[in-house]
Amino acid sequence: FGKQIKLLDRTVSTQEDARELAEAGAPEGTLVISEEQTGGRGRMGRKFHSPRGKGIWMSLILRPKQPLHLTQQLTLLTGVAVCRAIGKSAGVQTQIKWPNDILYEGKKVCGILLESTAEDGRIRYCVAGIGISVNLKETDFPEELRSVATSVRMAGGNVVNRTELIQTIMQEMEVLYELYNEQGFEPIASAWEALSGTVGREVRVQSGQGDFTGTATGLNKDGALMVRSDAGEMVPVYSGEILFNTR
Ligand code: BTN
Repeated sequence: FGKQIKLLDRTVSTQEDARELAEAGAPEGTLVISEEQTGGRGRMGRKFHSPRGKGIWMSLILRPKQPLHLTQQLTLLTGVAVCRAIGKSAGVQTQIKWPNDILYEGKKVCGILLESTAEDGRIRYCVAGIGISVNLKETDFPEELRSVATSVRMAGGNVVNRTELIQTIMQEMEVLYELYNEQGFEPIASAWEALSGTVGREVRVQSGQGDFTGTATGLNKDGALMVRSDAGEMVPVYSGEILFNTR
């Protein structure tokens, strides 16, 4: 992974650049990185703040063989890779909030957006977008984000070498992806659960399945979050948002 890199100075969103490359036949592992994004995108149509030179804004092309309904597993795998890499190269211990936000002391340092293009129920390719606030200072965040976002530098106290962090993420991705292809989702799920700040917590679930509260108990075999609702029912949550409940 990351052997073929397209490095951009400024772009709207690396997701679109990677998609174009994938359509043109770029191999699995091709990476698009930009110093700045003018239209960085997050989940659920949100904007993603991607200022110049301070973060890692990149998209990785994957060509998995798994069926389409399992792409969530790749989202979780990517979260594990990034969380481990931030620990290794910056010495900062982060936690994953389901499905894929990486938090430090409850504040977001990284977001992951995995988009797949399918045909006849099969994945043609996936683009794994990774956005990490690496060296931002508090004043680099717009005011409305300051209570909910932080950076690796603010967390660890040191400026972080972005190139080294990208390399570490690619190594971790490669190791996990190989493990996933050989042994399936189970070892990835255990790794995710160990790094997750979600399992065992009281959560409020907001999803297509409605809005309810309960306790997160772990992942099921597809990568859905299992929540024991207050009514005592085990509910698999496949998509949506969770909030930590402080009752
Ligand atoms: C989220 O937190 O909702 C996901 C954020 C994903 C951001 C990354 S930055 C690189 C890639 N390009 C984008 O426009 N988005 C992803």
